[in-house]
Amino acid sequence: MPQDAVPELSDYQPTLADDRDAIVAGLSAAQKHLAPKYFYDAQGSALFDRICDLPEYYPTRTELAIMDERADEIAAAVGQHACLVEFGSGSSVKIRLLLQGLDRPAAYVPVEISRGHLLEAAGEISREFPALEVLPVCADFTQPFELPTTREPMARVVAWFPGSTIGNFEPDEARRLLEVMRQQVGDAGGLLIGVDLQKDRGVLERAYNDAAGVTAEFNLNLLRRLNRELGANFDLRAFRHHAHYDATHGRIEMNLVSLRAQQVSLAGTVVTFDEGERIVTEYSHKFTREGFAELAASAGFHVEQVWTDADALFSVQWLEAAA
Ligand code: AVI
Repeated sequence: MPQDAVPELSDYQPTLADDRDAIVAGLSAAQKHLAPKYFYDAQGSALFDRICDLPEYYPTRTELAIMDERADEIAAAVGQHACLVEFGSGSSVKIRLLLQGLDRPAAYVPVEISRGHLLEAAGEISREFPALEVLPVCADFTQPFELPTTREPMARVVAWFPGSTIGNFEPDEARRLLEVMRQQVGDAGGLLIGVDLQKDRGVLERAYNDAAGVTAEFNLNLLRRLNRELGANFDLRAFRHHAHYDATHGRIEMNLVSLRAQQVSLAGTVVTFDEGERIVTEYSHKFTREGFAELAASAGFHVEQVWTDADALFSVQWLEAAA
């Protein structure tokens, strides 16, 4: 591929307007909620990149360190000529590390909802790995999507789902998503997945309440996006970010809290907030090893290997189709 070529894109990018009914329903429910997938417009993706570099946000650097240290074992598990399908092309640093370690991967298929971010990341990978076929797919990866045909024959399909994004889904949704992945990779395939582990509440709460306020900005950007794309009139100064660990469910809960009683209009609907009322914007589940193995098994996967750091903060796990 020439130096400045952009890989050909399979484009199914949804807009917020496609999800208008779901968004209005979420904001009209007794417990107001919005799905975390809406965070990732261009600004949200850029803010998330900044979160990954924060000193308090341990998952990214810990996962990278595990992958670096265990590159040979990971490559052996994945095998030669794999077609690597990345669910969400969030971190090009991680994919670089993975691709460098793998034995002649047949193709790389990043699947991502944010088109700009996807094309930029795919272009960078194409330039850096000129021999590798890069086939970006712009789609909501929670729904089944068609895998592009690879030029080279491939040995197996391997899904790559880093960053513990699986934790952003509620248990039933997480199972359904793992089932989609299981279907996508087939009987011979595998799933390499980053899974954040349960730990001290203080470490967790600091990771989602960083001193620089980047996570707060990321959370509030969701309202900015609703204003821009759905013509809503949220006053961003009238909401504040709040994140806490719910030990009963083993998850961080992120909220936007209304600072006063107010009404907001969006897509022809008026939403009323009491003072202190919150919108749940994200769950980030933290797993025990046993808990994750059970979830994987419920979707037809068997956990073959678990790699973790010395402090057991985070894990990278290799799953294959259950016999
Ligand atoms: C993408 N996901 C795994 C992040 C997490 O940690 O749950 C999103 C995030 N939200 C706040 N900080 C990071």
